[in-house]
Amino acid sequence: MTNSLKITRKIKSYNNIITIDGDKSLSIRWALLASQAKGRSRAYQLLKSEDVLNTLDCLKKLGVKVNFKNNYCEILGKGLNSYDYKDNLILDAGNSGTLGRLILGLLIHSKKKIKLIGDKSLSKRDFSRVTRPLKKFGAKFYSNRTNKLPLLISGSESVKPIRYIEKKGSAQCKSSIMLAALNTEGETFIKAKKSRDHTELLFKYLKIPIKIKKTKKYDFIKIKGRKEILSFNYIIPSDISSSAFFIVLTALSTNSKLLIKNINVNPTRAGVIKILKKMGVKILIKNKKNYKGEKVADILVKSSKNLKAIKCPSELNSSAIDEFLIIFLVAAKAKGVSYFKKLSELNQKESPRLIWGAKILNKMGIKTKLTNHSIKIYGDPKLEISKKIQIKNYLKDHRIFMMSTIAALTFGGKWEIHNKDSINTSFPSFLKIIKKLNNKRK
Ligand code: S3P
Repeated sequence: MTNSLKITRKIKSYNNIITIDGDKSLSIRWALLASQAKGRSRAYQLLKSEDVLNTLDCLKKLGVKVNFKNNYCEILGKGLNSYDYKDNLILDAGNSGTLGRLILGLLIHSKKKIKLIGDKSLSKRDFSRVTRPLKKFGAKFYSNRTNKLPLLISGSESVKPIRYIEKKGSAQCKSSIMLAALNTEGETFIKAKKSRDHTELLFKYLKIPIKIKKTKKYDFIKIKGRKEILSFNYIIPSDISSSAFFIVLTALSTNSKLLIKNINVNPTRAGVIKILKKMGVKILIKNKKNYKGEKVADILVKSSKNLKAIKCPSELNSSAIDEFLIIFLVAAKAKGVSYFKKLSELNQKESPRLIWGAKILNKMGIKTKLTNHSIKIYGDPKLEISKKIQIKNYLKDHRIFMMSTIAALTFGGKWEIHNKDSINTSFPSFLKIIKKLNNKRK
């Protein structure tokens, strides 16, 4: 079967209601924390994507019992630091930076050496951002490739709490340290540049001793380790990062309206909504609720004319870090020059996304000015594509595939987009939902 998608027609108008797959960050965190809790934890609406399935596979290799039942996934945890596994274990994080980096935090005690590997994309990414703090706890790392996978971790029984300053605004780094702190006697202190706070909210919900002081740029986090956690059930809300593709699809198409139900709109994640609103996208947040500390809501979005360019405030970068590719498509249609700065982290993702964003926009006929950390996008409200465009991303970045699909459905042209399978990383239902959009509302 071919692994590329051909699109030669724009999407027709629609008025519909959809539900998106479960949140990836929360699905992975639920699984890792459930594996450290005592007893039977269940997750409903867990995202069944490759990143999450790889998380469950790693946990099984670490001796944790994982079962899928009708409508939930169950993990039988044996408590803190209870993994039980054979020598020379190999854990495969696949494409997932979140899994690869977070799980290392849970392995700092390992008496046996464990090898962590990943796919071609993950093996290009920097791991020093987690090995540096984890070494301070007492873990040892060995790798033939500086700061990259594959790497070996061998823990230490005498780990010590640390004080650490996380300056990149990386939730993966912060969370890896927090998971290491969970299993470490004493108080760990992290000064962390603002980033998504799912781990903090889960720690609070699980009554893990955590204190947080927030300032404008940094959060000061203190965690007291070695407090047993009880098993817990969780209903995973839908993923805002996946929803963003449908928000933009609707905004850029004509006479359409879409209600997306039950999305995690945690303010540290939902920067995309603020940015798109500033650009003139018609978005309404409805039925806002609190679920175990997370904010969950429905999002109503309508086709939006007269889109405006944005000088994007860099304070919003971390809360929209996975959504910039799709935001760039709105900038392509906006009146004026949009400017996104301090975004070097975007080149550290599954593929160098700042570079790829510019590449795709250029193929579409949009002018850009690119540096290592910024992009200017010269919008064209009248943009209509009729030429052939081929997108081959050799690192198989799921978000490059989905951005290209949305561009093809809204700007026209004859597109051939490779690596269709990549959607299985984060959003397996992506194409199925698109196919259903034009069906009549029940
Ligand atoms: C994630 C954090 C972000 C994000 C990634 C998921 C997480 O990465 O890009 O897709 O679940 O913690 P960084 O923490 O490296 O910015």
